[in-house]
Amino acid sequence: MSATIRQGETRGAGAPARPLDAQDVRDAYRRWAGVYDSVFGFVSRPGRMRAVAALNALPAERLLEVGVGTGLALPHYVAGKRVTGIDLSPEMLAVAERRVREGVAATVEGLHEMDAEAMAFPDASFDAAVAMFVASVVPNPRRMMAEMRRVVRPGGTILLVNHFLAPHMGLRRGVERAVAPFSRALGWHPDFAMETVLSPGQLTAATLQPCPPLGIFTLVTLPRDAV
Ligand SMILES: C[S@@+](CC[C@H](N)C(=O)[O-])C[C@H]1O[C@@H](n2cnc3c(N)ncnc32)[C@H](O)[C@@H]1O
Repeated sequence: MSATIRQGETRGAGAPARPLDAQDVRDAYRRWAGVYDSVFGFVSRPGRMRAVAALNALPAERLLEVGVGTGLALPHYVAGKRVTGIDLSPEMLAVAERRVREGVAATVEGLHEMDAEAMAFPDASFDAAVAMFVASVVPNPRRMMAEMRRVVRPGGTILLVNHFLAPHMGLRRGVERAVAPFSRALGWHPDFAMETVLSPGQLTAATLQPCPPLGIFTLVTLPRDAV
């Protein structure tokens, strides 16, 4: 299966040169599923916890987690939240389902195998949507954003947590560029620029919060109605 850009779409400035396609993602996360929590759980925890804290503080009951993965965030939503998760990888979802069975405070309304770029939900189904460490993985991040915007109600909120390409030349940017050719095996793009997922209007409206470790991840909070 090849990655496609539908007619009239752009990937956005700063897009990685070699896009992943949906089969690359499924293949990568089939391999990651058994070890994901041990390898990536710790380093990603601060960003994830900040995103969940922001969601818990919002007057938002119906939450969508895009690319829910193994469900590491699910135990941290407070009671009263109604959470739906989607992911392309059945192996990652199986771990998330196990986690929910072990007990969570929020109501997990469903964990669905579904493409973030073509969701089956009606418009305005959620009060807020979040994608944690997903934007640099999906084949077409702008299409994912368009879908998140569609399924969140007007006045709602969209959050992203991600690693973004360092804005300036330097050691970090050099490392990101050097590792980029291994994107396919990693299942994500180390050289992923923020402009790849956000339009100029969204970049202006977004609140950016650097997250530990060393600010390599950023929490982006965006009013759904920013375009
Ligand atoms: C780096 S993991 C992040 C998992 C989780 N959000 C977390 O915080 O640990 C990226 C996840 O995004 C999922 N994913 C990638 N592309 C997707 C798509 N188009 N639709 C749905 N899920 C996708 C992958 O299967 C994987 O589980």
